[in-house]
Amino acid sequence: MAADETKPTPQPVVARLTRAAIFLVLTINPGRESETAVRSMCADLAGLLRAVGFRDLEGRLSCVMAFGSDMWDRLFEGQRPKDLHPFKEIRGVHHAVSTPGDVLFHIRATRMDLCFELAMEIMARLGDAVATADQVQGFNYFDDRDLIGFVDGTENPVDQDAINAAIIDDEDPVFAGGSYVIVQKYLHDLKRWNAIPVEVQEGIVGRKKFSNIELDDSVKPSYAHNALTTIVENGEELDIVRDNMPFGDVGKGEFGTYFIGYARSPARIEQMLVNMFIGRPPGNYDRLLDVSQAITGSLFFVPSASFLDGVEPDAAPAMSAPADQPDGTISPSRNEKMDGSLGIGSLKKEV
Ligand code: HEM
Repeated sequence: MAADETKPTPQPVVARLTRAAIFLVLTINPGRESETAVRSMCADLAGLLRAVGFRDLEGRLSCVMAFGSDMWDRLFEGQRPKDLHPFKEIRGVHHAVSTPGDVLFHIRATRMDLCFELAMEIMARLGDAVATADQVQGFNYFDDRDLIGFVDGTENPVDQDAINAAIIDDEDPVFAGGSYVIVQKYLHDLKRWNAIPVEVQEGIVGRKKFSNIELDDSVKPSYAHNALTTIVENGEELDIVRDNMPFGDVGKGEFGTYFIGYARSPARIEQMLVNMFIGRPPGNYDRLLDVSQAITGSLFFVPSASFLDGVEPDAAPAMSAPADQPDGTISPSRNEKMDGSLGIGSLKKEV
């Protein structure tokens, strides 16, 4: 079927699972120059990706660039994506923390060197404009398992189902082709996990460990991970697209899963998190969390690739300005912008 040319092209959110990934969460330093540098990166990303990716086309290098809520108005003028907000901390039986993040790069390839090279190029271009909040190199572990030994990703939607789950359509026409993404870095207590009998582990995950077969509903506990993360609305299952990756540092005794979930609305991922951390019903929480601690949590909006290509580095929105004076007065440059005298053209091709 021919692609619909009237619709913006999405970023490679639903790219096939790969063997290597880098998750780069950055904060943008204060000042207009930093914002300009990040806007320049938006339009340059496709070219960088072509340059690095062409060195091994079979390596399937891809990169998704996404933006945090606080940063959106500093970077872009015009409307905001309707559901964009900061990651909401959850205090239930366990704690889902909310941590800083203005920009996310999710880099994937079949080879780590491709991911690494692209990450280096991105960071070289951004230079002093950003600080790294977190950087994780994820790897593919035996049979697509996570470090707790279970196959991860089986029930991920694919092809058109993945697009239906992750890509915004008419519900927010200005941002059609976009997506929302939540990332969380989990550290596992593997000693404790491995001391749990395999049969009990299977009840916690909701699948057989060796064969990966889903437990029958008659034996699956209501707190199983795959039960709590199954959400049904008006008889329809609300899917998300996940691309979790194991990571670790044996020297530090760190063993983790980097959770990344894309959806056309953040609400469905948030509902899954509530079910996991508070429980469904409250108290019937996800036992994976007894051995897995979320040490980061951030939410980002993924604009379409068409949007990124159309970003003009110098087109600062009226909100964008150096920090206000310490005495609370507004800095002169922000006054200029607020009276509209320096209003600059639109950033978005599709708007
Ligand atoms: C400690 C971190 C996590 C680990 C180790 C983990 C692991 C797994 C495993 C092994 C499965 C079963 C196989 C599969 O269908 O992929 C699974 C399923 C799933 N997980 Fe997670 N997961 C984690 C965190 C999360 C979070 C934070 C969410 C959402 C907020 C989530 C959402 C899902 C969903 C939607 C499914 C599929 C359920 C189904 O339809 O059967 N997971 N996860």
